[in-house]
Amino acid sequence: MLDLADIELLFARHGSAQYSGEPVTQLEHALQTAHLAEQSAADDALVTACLLHDLGHLLNEQGDTPTLRGIDDTHQYFALPFLRGLLPDAVLMPIKLHVDAKRYLCATNARYYARLSEDSKRSLALQGGPLEAEQAAGFLEQPGARDAVLLRQWDDLAKQPHFSTPPLAHFLQRASRCLLTNAATA
Ligand SMILES: [Fe+2]
Ligand SMILES: [Fe+2]
Repeated sequence: MLDLADIELLFARHGSAQYSGEPVTQLEHALQTAHLAEQSAADDALVTACLLHDLGHLLNEQGDTPTLRGIDDTHQYFALPFLRGLLPDAVLMPIKLHVDAKRYLCATNARYYARLSEDSKRSLALQGGPLEAEQAAGFLEQPGARDAVLLRQWDDLAKQPHFSTPPLAHFLQRASRCLLTNAATA
């Protein structure tokens, strides 16, 4: 299991890697997603999910733009064992479901697909394509699915060069407010 200091170190070591096929680094993408959530008055858990939603890319490095080589790094699942025990399901479930949220949005909103970046369109095919109508109909019933859809929409906007955000320390502070250890000692 990671702790917040480990997460800070991961961003320090690997956060300067380019976000596959996008004009931002991994750290910039994480900060922009969390910042957009914060600007929409999301709570600590959802802001933290936004910050950490792509942590799996940092933990499971596949080199430059793996989608071009037909690789899906399953990053939405990869980070979960490292975060379980540290953060509650309110953080973990939107991370787990953020790729399926894209598949849901593609199934239910034709304009959403049209606006996706090229890399997101390429990874969609590797991730199973849009959800089938029956899967889409039940998607929002799952715990965390509505937050995953919100996360996903900020995620898609968080690929902007020269977009200023608060620093990582600010969002780690918000993450510290939803640690499971707080609940245990409360
Ligand atoms: Fe992602
Ligand atoms: Fe992302």
